[in-house]
This record gives sequence, C-alpha cells and structure tokens, in this order.
Amino acid sequence: MIENKNTKDFEFTKKNLEQVKKIFSKYPDDQKVSAVMPLLDLAMRQIGGWVTESAIKHISSMLNIPFIRAYEVASFYSMFNLEPIGKNFIQICTTTSCWLRGSDNILEVCKKHLNVKNNQTTKDGLFTLKEVECLGACVNAPMVQINDNYYEDLDTESFLNILDSLKEGKKIDIGPQNKKRKGAEPLGSA
Ligand code: FES
Repeated sequence: MIENKNTKDFEFTKKNLEQVKKIFSKYPDDQKVSAVMPLLDLAMRQIGGWVTESAIKHISSMLNIPFIRAYEVASFYSMFNLEPIGKNFIQICTTTSCWLRGSDNILEVCKKHLNVKNNQTTKDGLFTLKEVECLGACVNAPMVQINDNYYEDLDTESFLNILDSLKEGKKIDIGPQNKKRKGAEPLGSA
C-alpha cells in the first residue's frame, strides 16, 4: 500500500478543475469512469510526478467507483508513480525491438552512471530510473522516455550525453539522436 503519511488531503486546484471539466466532456454520460487515466495523470502533474493515496481516493469518489478500481489502474500502468520521483523520470524500454537494438546496454550504463538500481532515485534527486515495457516508438529503437520527451535511435554514448546535458541544464534535441533521420522516416534510401 502507498505510504502517504506526509501528504494532505488531495483536491484539484481551481485551474485543474477546469481541466477536469474538459476531460469529463470527452466521455458519454454513462462512460465517465473512463476518465480515470487522464484524471490520474492530471493529479500526478499537480502533485509533482506521483499520485498519492489521497489523490486516488479523491478521483475514485469523483468517478463514483470503489477506491480499488482507481488504485488498480494507478498501480498497473508504469506511467503512474505511487512514490515521489526525481526531477528527471527516466523510463527505459527493454521490450523486443529496443532489446534487439541494445537496450540492455543502455540500462546497464544508466545504472552505473547514476549509481542506482531499477526503481531508485539518485541521492541528489535529479534522476529516477524505471525499466518499462514498449512505449510505442519501436521503429526508433532503442528509445528512452524522460519526463514527457522521447529520445530515440540511441546508443550508450548518445544516452550518456543526454544524462549529462540534463544534469548541466543544457538544451538537448528530443527525438532521434543519430542525426541520420527525422522522426520515423527510413534510415536509408527507400
Ligand atoms: S519495443 Fe521499445 S518502444 Fe516498442
């Protein structure tokens, strides 16, 4: 169960309540419960990268469902964190396409470089590492998501460069890192 001793009762801010209205407007009256994921995401952004037990309770009561139904969604998907995370949330995909293209090496250098294990945060609070399943950018494998951005066509060198740039507050291009293609266009000539 989630440790939540130090968190106050959750409520959406006034600004986010406007977002809540917009989210609800996207679903038919008898399907409002489907808003559970965007509501959890909104709460997570408001709190700072994770969802508290109180937030899940609040959302389940908004949706008029038992707490467990919202909790099982929050605890199933790797996009939701049930504990505080670092400033940069690194999700390394190790599913088939990424694995075939070297994601194990990226995971290993990440652990060594940051001195963390899977699901741990660095002591300075800058990075949290999580190994995840396919993030839907297989054509640009191997890839990593950091906060809301995808970094693709990685090798260990380009990945470490991203970590160091984030640490130093340098600007980094998102998307493919091999500079050979834009987006998911073919690597060679068609
Ligand atoms: S296998 Fe890595 S994004 Fe799909």
